[in-house]
Amino acid sequence: MIYKNSTELMQLAGYPVYMSDIADACLLGRLNLFMIGDTGSGKTQLARDMMDKFGDKTVYILGRNDMDTRELFQQINLEKLKTAKTSAEIKELTDKINYHLVVVDELPNCVPSVRGQLFNLFDGFVEVNGKAYPIGRGYSIGVAAGNLGQKFTESSNDLGRALKDRMHVIIDSDYFSPKPSDTLEILAENTNPRVNFQSDGLDQSEEIINKHNELVKQSTPFEKLVLANYLVHGLDYCNNGMSKRKLKDQWPAAITSHAKGSDEALVLPLSTRAAKSTIRLSQALDSIVQGKAGKPVDINLLESMMQAYKFVAAYSGVLNDASVDANYSGDKYKTLDAVIQTTQAQVQQQEDNIRAGLEMVKSRKVNQKILDRFTGRWTFMRDILTYLAQQEGAKNEN
Ligand SMILES: Nc1ncnc2c1ncn2[C@@H]1O[C@H](COP(=O)(O)OP(=O)(O)OP(=O)(O)O)[C@@H](O)[C@H]1O
Ligand SMILES: [Mg+2]
Repeated sequence: MIYKNSTELMQLAGYPVYMSDIADACLLGRLNLFMIGDTGSGKTQLARDMMDKFGDKTVYILGRNDMDTRELFQQINLEKLKTAKTSAEIKELTDKINYHLVVVDELPNCVPSVRGQLFNLFDGFVEVNGKAYPIGRGYSIGVAAGNLGQKFTESSNDLGRALKDRMHVIIDSDYFSPKPSDTLEILAENTNPRVNFQSDGLDQSEEIINKHNELVKQSTPFEKLVLANYLVHGLDYCNNGMSKRKLKDQWPAAITSHAKGSDEALVLPLSTRAAKSTIRLSQALDSIVQGKAGKPVDINLLESMMQAYKFVAAYSGVLNDASVDANYSGDKYKTLDAVIQTTQAQVQQQEDNIRAGLEMVKSRKVNQKILDRFTGRWTFMRDILTYLAQQEGAKNEN
């Protein structure tokens, strides 16, 4: 690995997690990664290093605004698609494409039609005549980089929406740029300003895919599922009984004045898709940290979920930008740290109730008194516990 960066993005169980660990976690979790930045902090280098793990089962594409889909297909050895007529012919061509990792540098330069095909590649298929043809044999991932500059406001423009939908983890790499001591090392090593692409020829595709398959087979701890529900449903709740989702464009203007300063006006709930990415990233980070420790370590599930949430949510469009600007000097990560603090306090307050709820589930009987303990943004627990108690009951009858 040539990329160097010893800036800590988080700590889990006392172990530091770096940019390259997040990159590994994305490979492990099969999560698409987008690196934002405009300072030459090594985005392209890190993407190249990631490619290095996949031998020849990877492709690098440099985004240009004059590239059309025909040229894109040429670059991925699908130029014959032009002459293929039947879907059998197309399938024969696409079956030969075995890319596990597609790297797109300067993605924002791509025109929307090319971007669309690139996102399909990230998700493991190409689309021809409205039909999807799989590539990458079940494991495919996309890593993209680019400077977004003025063109980017997450929720409103076309690129912002497209990124939000298809890139699961979006990180501002300038925010976590290398330390001066890293720069010292980088500069002392060589002064070639080009990206180094040294391949040691070791193809780790199988190993990565196997680890990924193991990860997705793990069942998600119940605590993580509850936390994900909090992020999807708890954060949807407004004190006046309204739902942020239902408020649509009225949020955050419709938030009552006494809640204006709280996170109620600061953050939207996660989408189900983002909640899945959060759990996946959290599971992958846990696994990376276990690997670093070299022995089983106790990772606090709340901590791990919250850190994953931070890196999934920051650029996912859930934050109220005006409030981030006014209260956190535009710093999305600081904003999320505050949301995380509130969430941790909320969870601590609920610990006894959740424990009582789980006892209720075990007893297989719905107890309204216990359900009534969950109020406000925790009201979602009533539905979960009722469902689980009924399931337990049904299990017992069988
Ligand atoms: N963190 C780093 N570790 C190792 N090398 C680095 C690092 N950051 C930059 N470099 C070196 O500096 C040069 C520029 O890095 P790179 O092209 O990866 O930056 P970038 O973030 O992609 O920049 P841009 O936003 O301009 O595309 C390369 O020679 C690269 O090897
Ligand atoms: Mg670059």
